[in-house]
Amino acid sequence: MLEVKNVCRNFKGLQALSDVSFTVEEGTIFGVIGPNGAGKSTLFNCITNYFPPSSGNVYFEGKEITGIKPHKITELGITRTFQHTQVFPQLTVYDNVVTGQYVIKQKDPGRTKTQFDEDVERILKLVGLDSYRETIASNLSMGDQTRLAIGIALATEAKLLLLDEPAAGMNPEETKQLMNLLRNVREQGVTIVLIEHDMKAVMGICERIVVLEYGQKIAEGTPEEIRQNPQVIKAYLGSGDIA
Ligand SMILES: Nc1ncnc2c1ncn2[C@@H]1O[C@H](COP(=O)(O)OP(=O)(O)OP(=O)(O)O)[C@@H](O)[C@H]1O
Ligand SMILES: [Mg+2]
Repeated sequence: MLEVKNVCRNFKGLQALSDVSFTVEEGTIFGVIGPNGAGKSTLFNCITNYFPPSSGNVYFEGKEITGIKPHKITELGITRTFQHTQVFPQLTVYDNVVTGQYVIKQKDPGRTKTQFDEDVERILKLVGLDSYRETIASNLSMGDQTRLAIGIALATEAKLLLLDEPAAGMNPEETKQLMNLLRNVREQGVTIVLIEHDMKAVMGICERIVVLEYGQKIAEGTPEEIRQNPQVIKAYLGSGDIA
């Protein structure tokens, strides 16, 4: 579904990504881990062309998307969330989800108001916010704001969801609930790429994981392979993150 091929990204003297390649299969949850500053968010920025790769290529469903404008990428079916949750703080939960539907209004102008309303209902239930529909988003807990951001992404009818540290700032119980939500989202046929610091969460939910360190891919494999990889253990040595 997604192929990242030899992607490099420099910032002046800094090589934030060096020759990173991997493939994400449709219907999977794919993890991206690595220490702070490893290049994880930069990778998402290059996939969605928030800024372009310095070199290398990105393919989505077999078509090259390198350098395509971010809104076009959303129309093709890739939606991302940012590391610092972005919802519309002054809008209600309901209206936040509606904002995601602008993409569909352009792609499928024939869809009726009833259908749009039903879609919002379905999404609110899926992300567990249907009883908060009239709540102003800024009054939600951090965890619920993240669920709402995922709801907005689902309203764009994304086929591929890129999530940048959605569990940041969550307690273990909220993280567990979030991982259950991600499993449910995947059941709806959405492929997920997940950047996450919570190692237990990543290991528990992802089929495959790539590990970045100083902009380079140092490992790729199943959670079990990653856990046993000497380079990964070294990268995380002393952090206590990998047990
Ligand atoms: N727009 C930018 N301009 C200059 N340098 C940048 C820019 N974005 C990222 N960098 C640098 O690139 C490197 C990788 O940053 P990136 O944000 O991708 O790391 P990360 O793996 O997401 O880290 P974290 O876990 O802290 O979120 C860092 O050294 C960072 O300072
Ligand atoms: Mg980051």
